[in-house]
Amino acid sequence: MRRKIILDCDPGHDDAIAILLALASPELEVLGITTVFGNVGLEHTTRNALVVREVAGVQVPVYAGADRPLVRDRISAEAVHGASGLGGPHLPTPTGQAEPKHAVLFIIEQVLQHPGQVTLVPTGALTNIALALRLEPRIIPQIREIVLMGGSIDIGNWTPSAEFNILCDPHAARIVFEAGVPLVMMGLNLTHQTVAHPARIARFRALGTPVGRFVAELLEFFREHHRRRYKWEGAPIHDACTIAYLLRPELFKTGLFNVEIESNEGLAFGRTVCDYWHVTGKPPNCTVGLEVDVEGFYDLLVERIGGY
Ligand code: BDR
Ligand code: CA
Repeated sequence: MRRKIILDCDPGHDDAIAILLALASPELEVLGITTVFGNVGLEHTTRNALVVREVAGVQVPVYAGADRPLVRDRISAEAVHGASGLGGPHLPTPTGQAEPKHAVLFIIEQVLQHPGQVTLVPTGALTNIALALRLEPRIIPQIREIVLMGGSIDIGNWTPSAEFNILCDPHAARIVFEAGVPLVMMGLNLTHQTVAHPARIARFRALGTPVGRFVAELLEFFREHHRRRYKWEGAPIHDACTIAYLLRPELFKTGLFNVEIESNEGLAFGRTVCDYWHVTGKPPNCTVGLEVDVEGFYDLLVERIGGY
């Protein structure tokens, strides 16, 4: 049976590639794409989800969700992703629209309809997921797993302590990490291993297909920021690590740890505090990605993107 997933995202270059990877993979049944504010505002992230659906040529429903965090002020990342959120390639005009239902209600409905079967894959702020858990706590024991991109076991990227997605809404992240749902965290310590340097980008271009070119152009734009900012050879494809993990868990080395979210507004606001050495005695609540077979990751991605 295909694994049922909901992609909860803020596209975003790497979100877009995660969506394309999921929609190209017969092992997965994408029930819907839900959007959240994040890299850019909700109007843009929702439009971008529709754009990516158009590029993929797959009629998966899109639902717009939260346009702001629960408590803190909204932050965004136009400097990384461009004003539209998907700088680089020509973006087709979406033919369809988002569904009228709120993303949070869609998530609740799907989990209740398919108890124990739905995996949530958040690659943006955790606001929609937290709202769903609070609005309908009956879903908590019925979610199969949450496989998210966010956090880090060590350094952040938006502050010295915090990764962008978690920092977007630390209070929501805290609700999610404390919920007791099986959790997998693909944080920066892992995703930074997936840098898309020019030879890797060339593999997508060499596919000679419109989707291959679209991915290459996304990665070329994304690369520029990372070259300027970090002097890296390219950008990590953070968000696609979640889908790759669902498809090929054997590509990943993981560990089981206690992870808590710092939700106090100090120096470590938004940090995913990972008890790596098990010094607290607190029970583990999260499977944490530690290492990825990066060549295997790219082989998978190129194979699936080549399937369009
Ligand atoms: C995360 O932040 C966003 O800019 C990316 O899409 C990714 O989800 C990396 O910190
Ligand atoms: Ca994202």
